[in-house]
Amino acid sequence: MSDDRFFSRREIVAALTFVVLGTAIGVTSYRAGLNIAGANAGAVVAASTKPAPPNGQTLYAGNCAGCHGAQAQGGVGPSLAETKGWALADFAEAVLNGHAPGGRTLSTVMPHFADTGLDGAPPTDDQIKALHEYIKGL
Ligand code: HEC
Repeated sequence: MSDDRFFSRREIVAALTFVVLGTAIGVTSYRAGLNIAGANAGAVVAASTKPAPPNGQTLYAGNCAGCHGAQAQGGVGPSLAETKGWALADFAEAVLNGHAPGGRTLSTVMPHFADTGLDGAPPTDDQIKALHEYIKGL
């Protein structure tokens, strides 16, 4: 009779396993959900705390291509072919403050990205470097 009233050891283990797994899955999904909600637009859901390195192509497309052309061939702004040979510091000075090598001041049509920001945020050295590398590869 007692066998009818109590669960077998196997049934208990199965039930416990089910509860533990269910809880684990629930907690993991919940935390993944929090990550998605808290992440900035475009950020990848990841446990890593290190931000992704800047993407020169994305930066160029979003901030420069409209004037300099998709391939930096020129448009409203000049072709950036010559820029490929510039040192990073010269490139940065042109992009951030509108000063070209040799003391030349660029027309104000070219934004001063130190003031306007890249994608709405103050430019970082890594972003300028990523842009320079990307343009050199075009
Ligand atoms: C609103 C249009 C516009 C945007 C956006 C723009 N530029 Fe320019 N840029 C210009 C113009 C116009 C010049 C030429 C200014 C001059 O020669 O006086 C120029 C000049 C330059 C020069 C100097 C080129 C040379 O040979 O003298 C560099 C380098 C440059 N831009 C890079 C960039 C980068 C990188 C971006 C994006 C982060 C960008 N520009 C965004 C219009 C723009």
